[in-house]
Amino acid sequence: MELKDTGEDIARVLYTKDDIDRRLALMGAQISRDYAGKDLLLVGVLKGAIMVMADLSRKISVPLKMDWMAVSSYGASTKSSGVVRILKDLNEDVKDKNVLIVEDILDSGLTLTWLKSNLEARGAASVRIAAMLRKPEAVKADIVPEYIGYDIPNEFVVGYGLDYAEHYRHLDFIGTLAPHVYGG
Ligand code: XMP
Ligand code: MG
Repeated sequence: MELKDTGEDIARVLYTKDDIDRRLALMGAQISRDYAGKDLLLVGVLKGAIMVMADLSRKISVPLKMDWMAVSSYGASTKSSGVVRILKDLNEDVKDKNVLIVEDILDSGLTLTWLKSNLEARGAASVRIAAMLRKPEAVKADIVPEYIGYDIPNEFVVGYGLDYAEHYRHLDFIGTLAPHVYGG
């Protein structure tokens, strides 16, 4: 879905399809250099990371495997506890693998902090993070993605995998929602 198809729903476009494509090409080139000769496993976090995974992986020029996890927060308490529930676990064994977690966005950073230590505890040789977007709050968390697309303001964004109530994931760009959509 393109901007012209979204009516009045989008307040502002942050990154176009071309912006995203160019940024991912740079990230992919860096990842290809860093993982040359290594056993690379990309772990995508469902559902938000589907687009990043599809496009970033195709910019990577070294062999890799792909796997997926789905996680969910334990409601409101998660903000403080950072406890996450696994809805769908990996099919691959991560022991001795070089894992690169692929995510759409780091907000508080709690999800990725938990996921990283979970995968490390399973004996991965290394666990790094590639995230398309990062919000300012994440900077306060003790987690720094090795590969990052864009730092964005503290606004709710949709598109390119990111949803509002499961909608807008298929936008080919990233933008902010008009307040009328969420009753503002
Ligand atoms: P934490 O706070 O653990 O959360 O870093 C990351 C997850 O929160 C969701 N999230 C968003 N989803 N637009 C979205 O569609 C946003 O602006 C946004 N901010 C956070 C997302 O699921 C992410 O994986
Ligand atoms: Mg997500």
